[in-house]
Amino acid sequence: MRLPIVAGNWKMYKTPAEAAEFAQAIIAPLLPFEGVERVVCPPFVAIPAVAAALRGTPIKVGAQNVHQEPHGAYTGSVSVPMLQGLVEYVIIGHSEVRQYQGETDAMINAKAKALLAGGLKPIIAVGESLAQREEGQTVAHVGGQVRAAFEGIPPESLANVVIAYEPIWAIGTGRNASPEDANQTIKEAVRDVLAELYGAAAAETVRIQYGGSVKPENMLAYMSMPEIDGALVGGASLKVNDFTALVRLAQEAKGA
Ligand code: PGA
Repeated sequence: MRLPIVAGNWKMYKTPAEAAEFAQAIIAPLLPFEGVERVVCPPFVAIPAVAAALRGTPIKVGAQNVHQEPHGAYTGSVSVPMLQGLVEYVIIGHSEVRQYQGETDAMINAKAKALLAGGLKPIIAVGESLAQREEGQTVAHVGGQVRAAFEGIPPESLANVVIAYEPIWAIGTGRNASPEDANQTIKEAVRDVLAELYGAAAAETVRIQYGGSVKPENMLAYMSMPEIDGALVGGASLKVNDFTALVRLAQEAKGA
């Protein structure tokens, strides 16, 4: 049984003060849903305030990126040692970081290794563009991203890794992959590839989220799919009521 995980990716929204206020406001509404792992990923500067607000609660904190080196002359970057003690999860491979910051598959692999070595858990995002989808390249492309991300990662680390399948054309666009389609792609491009790399039994234990225009209205349909173990959510994670509804629906669908 894979513990469902719903993570809010706040992107470049909320000042530290707004983030702390939001964190306070979600504690009580999210408390009842113990069958779902609940994570919020604020911008770097808001992480200390959110971590302080959520300390001692079951709600976990994540970061939206990390540098693969522990320290060095990398202006504007934040490393694993800087995040230790503040966050449990770190999103890597997000399509916006791949696109706007030139994050490559090799960097994502190096970041995953650095995170795992530092006791933090990567949420590895993968997904195809609209052009790749239209050319029938979805499974090859996403499968390739998964292979590259897991290069040299030992089987015992799988319990500490989450994968988020996010078709790029569905992020922030209001255009969704159908739940059946998302389920099928996750099966063929992610879980089957993990099975090839680590064996079928190990692949079955890995949690895989769907992401891309997830909202309360479509959450139940995604969460009812057998291969989908949660959601990575942007826009709808920024409002207390919507984020609470997403977590509640995850718990409802997975019967936890
Ligand atoms: P969205 O973003 O829910 O706003 O589409 C998802 C993501 O980028 O993780």
